[in-house]
Amino acid sequence: MGKNEYYVAKTFAGLEHLLAGELEALGARNCRVMSRSVAFEGPVELMYEANYHCRTALRVLWRQKTFSFHNNRQFYEQIFEFPSENFLHRDGTLAVHATIADTIFNTPLYASVLAKDAICDRFRDLYDERPSVDRDSPDVQFHLHIYKDEAQLFLDSSGESLHKRGYKVRNHPAPINEVVAAAMLMLAGYDGSCDFIDPMCGGATLPIEAAMMALHIPAGFYRRDYGFCRWKRFDPQLWKSIRDKAEILDDVPVNFYASDIDPRFVEMARDNVKRARLVDFIHVERRDMRQSNPARTPALVMMNPPYGERLEVKDIEDFYAEIGDTLKRNYAGCRAFLISSDMKALKHVGLKPDSKTTLFNGSLECRFLGYDLFAGDRKNHVSQNSPSSHTKN
Ligand SMILES: C[S@@+](CC[C@H](N)C(=O)[O-])C[C@H]1O[C@@H](n2cnc3c(N)ncnc32)[C@H](O)[C@@H]1O
Repeated sequence: MGKNEYYVAKTFAGLEHLLAGELEALGARNCRVMSRSVAFEGPVELMYEANYHCRTALRVLWRQKTFSFHNNRQFYEQIFEFPSENFLHRDGTLAVHATIADTIFNTPLYASVLAKDAICDRFRDLYDERPSVDRDSPDVQFHLHIYKDEAQLFLDSSGESLHKRGYKVRNHPAPINEVVAAAMLMLAGYDGSCDFIDPMCGGATLPIEAAMMALHIPAGFYRRDYGFCRWKRFDPQLWKSIRDKAEILDDVPVNFYASDIDPRFVEMARDNVKRARLVDFIHVERRDMRQSNPARTPALVMMNPPYGERLEVKDIEDFYAEIGDTLKRNYAGCRAFLISSDMKALKHVGLKPDSKTTLFNGSLECRFLGYDLFAGDRKNHVSQNSPSSHTKN
């Protein structure tokens, strides 16, 4: 077992506990839930594993150093002393991102420029040359968290945000974020034991995430590039051994259905499913949600209808009422989930949700509502399914 290191994994607000659960399942120690992040400890392998496996992580930061400072000079010297040459190649590029609160710096930009200068000056002293800055795609991305006179220096081990799984050929104009899609499936308790249906699939994010979960395909399976791959201290053997350990299933006894009314998005869903090499599992077709129904029950039906904000819908409230009618009429025996930022329209679904969660799709605050769909009226269903109805007197 390697040395115990300290990490912080970032996520969206509301998903911290799901992420902590994923990290614990990988063997992370001392998980601490914070705002939009989870701190945890473990060996270096765990950093690679968290990047590869965690479906609800946006990025994983590896802490290198903590220090106190009282002026600019001390701050500069502390960064200068950090051996960045262990990670940054001589001809590599870097970027520094800083967050500050209640400190001597007026702006995060000032702190990041000072830190960048300290790293570059160290390289000039060592090699007589300064590395260059690349804000968009640096080889080494440093993060500084500065609170009062305490600073923590991190390396961003992920690079591009981990929601970019690598299976999207094209992007839908109103996509659900992949991390949010995975979280929705986890919150719905999806374990791959029943069919999954998304009758408003857009680019098929939800069906692809559902199939990945059912087939045990790691979150990072399709992704080629991670921040750590560009570090001088990258361990390709260790990384390969982690990827080789994944036990992906060849088959599952369930089906995944993705449909959309718009032919452009049906095409997009097909392209994404093909890129994910899931054509044998996910059936994609053009269909109006109002004419859809499950091939068999029980099934999990989950959808992300137009919000009206990013996609035009003529009468959004009527449309949500039709979604509710279709669920009630065609999906008896299924469990349904809807996510939307349009709280007013959601009221028009006309079904009583039995679970409600607030989620953020990027910056959009959404409600994620769960419904048990049954034939007949709710009173009978509840009394038939209450614990006492199963108890013999
Ligand atoms: C918010 S988008 C879904 C985005 C998708 N979750 C993704 O990640 O790409 C809503 C989708 O509903 C589709 N849609 C709208 N009305 C529909 C209907 N009556 N039946 C089926 N799909 C419909 C739109 O074409 C659009 O692709």
